[in-house]
Amino acid sequence: MTADFDQELPREHTGSVKFDARQAVFGTDDVIPMWVADMDFAVPEAISRALMMRASHPVFGYSLFPDSLYEAMIRWFQTRQEWTIERDWILMAPGVVPSLHGAAMAFAGPGEGIIIQPPVYPPFFSSVKKTRRRLIENPLVLENGRYRMDLDHLERCAADARVLFLCSPHNPVGRVWDRNELEAVLAIARRHDLTIVSDDVHCDLVYPGATHTMLAGLATAQDKLVTAVAPSKTFNIAGLGLSALVVPDPTLRHGLKQVFESMHMAQANPFSVAAFEAAYREGGPWLDELLAYLQENYRFACDYLRDHVPQIELIEPQGTYLLWLDCRKLGLADDELKAFFIQRAKVGMNPGSSFGEGGSGFMRMNIGTRRAVLVQALDQIQRAVSALR
Ligand SMILES: Cc1ncc(COP(=O)(O)O)c(C=O)c1O
Repeated sequence: MTADFDQELPREHTGSVKFDARQAVFGTDDVIPMWVADMDFAVPEAISRALMMRASHPVFGYSLFPDSLYEAMIRWFQTRQEWTIERDWILMAPGVVPSLHGAAMAFAGPGEGIIIQPPVYPPFFSSVKKTRRRLIENPLVLENGRYRMDLDHLERCAADARVLFLCSPHNPVGRVWDRNELEAVLAIARRHDLTIVSDDVHCDLVYPGATHTMLAGLATAQDKLVTAVAPSKTFNIAGLGLSALVVPDPTLRHGLKQVFESMHMAQANPFSVAAFEAAYREGGPWLDELLAYLQENYRFACDYLRDHVPQIELIEPQGTYLLWLDCRKLGLADDELKAFFIQRAKVGMNPGSSFGEGGSGFMRMNIGTRRAVLVQALDQIQRAVSALR
């Protein structure tokens, strides 16, 4: 079956954060929502079918994670990422962000250091701060339109830290870290006895020309590594809230399990279970079509901005459906930039400043939407920028 990503699917009044929280977030409903990271596309039919099938049995009691769910996940990662996971290594969790909080508590004591690499997804900051661990920032470096890690600085940070939260692929800058970079990170972690929590939630969303490397595929049994994955971004089921942690090391696994159990986090939701399994079991062909559509979206945005809005430079993404727009040439301060896009362009995006150091002057645009919506948003931005001159 061929997916129709151009199908119009109104999401207003469905309790969607992206649509129904616009008034609260932007002060108006009159913006095209291109912010929070979900897509405006219908999920693969296999997922809808699995959910309806589960709903057709009218008892929704306490549930467990069936063997078939683990099997589907293991097969997915073996097939798509050539990564072999053992069933015993997997811990289920209600999401990647709760997993980051749990990992902060399990692997660092209060006041101990956790490294993050800004600009980065805001919960990387809050999961450290809210658990009262110490935030250590290892900012990414932007060079010739491409981000890289500052490995020398990371080495210095590691001397004073217990944990590194790695975002791989990286939200918002769209980097798919290459093998050499990941090997270097692993070597630093080994030298400083650092535990790495690698958030690979965007690992399925990688464009041709780049290849995602699972850090876990490079690690040995001695490495202290936890990998967070989920079908939530890939298949647009983030609202169902279910993810997995892969923890080969028994001591780390025990530590995390204890934190999760202290919060009674082991509960399975029968709908999340049905969707998670169907996604990994049957979602492959849909994902391939999605990636082709998203790639055309980003190519379109890239060409459009180059030809019509040269003041805004697109950092070419290697993965994710999030574009990182360098708006510094507009010459606006962060609060002016935010107001400009809301009030003049009427496009609701995430201000770069909310991703920490290095985000100032940037905006994050979610292109997980119909081409027609993307075209309209870019046209509105183009007109607003022209009027600035
Ligand atoms: C890097 C990254 N991690 C985690 C999440 C959210 O994960 P969850 O909804 O499972 O908490 C997102 C959502 O945008 C993300 O970009």
